[in-house]
Amino acid sequence: MKKKLVISTGAGISAESGISTFRDAGGLWEKYPVMDVCSADGFERNPALVHQFYNDRRKQLLEAKPNAAHYGLVDLEKDYDVYVITQNVDDLHERAGQQNVLHLHGELMKVRSLTHPERVYQLKPEACATTPDTRDQYGDPVRPHIVFFQEAVPNFEPATELVAEADIFVVIGTSLNVYPAAALINYVRPGTPIYYIDPNPARVPAGVTVIAEPATRGVATLARLLSQPIEG
Ligand code: OAD
Repeated sequence: MKKKLVISTGAGISAESGISTFRDAGGLWEKYPVMDVCSADGFERNPALVHQFYNDRRKQLLEAKPNAAHYGLVDLEKDYDVYVITQNVDDLHERAGQQNVLHLHGELMKVRSLTHPERVYQLKPEACATTPDTRDQYGDPVRPHIVFFQEAVPNFEPATELVAEADIFVVIGTSLNVYPAAALINYVRPGTPIYYIDPNPARVPAGVTVIAEPATRGVATLARLLSQPIEG
């Protein structure tokens, strides 16, 4: 039976695809006040600004392609049962061909009805070319399918279940600033090997193998480390 490899990714894995991170120098939250564009209050105050912000992100995403790190994680599916839990709202894991992707913070290319939240719509690329539609076909207002600050993270519980079943846990490209996502590492079973790939790593518990490299190189390093037979 294949081992279960659970991988938690953040904005850093998409940085080399040209997608801005949030908290690095020049990151998104330096340019846009986070509580204006990514909070329930901000959306209530100025929905047009929030729609415009996410539509600009969509245009950036449509120009981007998965990078060697996204593809490297797909390659690991040959030898492992791979589950990706991502804080990213982009679709680069899916476009690289990853089988199992759980989005913690929503998905950029989707909107949902405000009055019927179960109505989630996949946006066509051409729908992002100009100002986005702010109503669905029933005339109901829509909102980005994004988990705003101040909102619950509906996929957190399934994510913790995956992490608790992991034989190997990997964290890639996150500043580990945002909860509850940053707490996933606490759900690994004792003794589970943990790897963390980030060129500017945050503080992590002792025992975590830190690979201080950009994601494209770091995933190649990880694949090499995983393929080495354990001595002992
Ligand atoms: P951050 O912007 O907080 O952190 C990005 C991390 O990526 C940092 O630790 C960088 O060192 C690292 N990084 C930069 N370039 C990299 C590269 N080439 N390879 C690997 N790592 C690299 O992004 P997140 O931790 O993902 O939420 O942020 C978490 C959440 O905060 C986001 O999901 C978003 C934001 O508010 C929402 O929008 C709801």
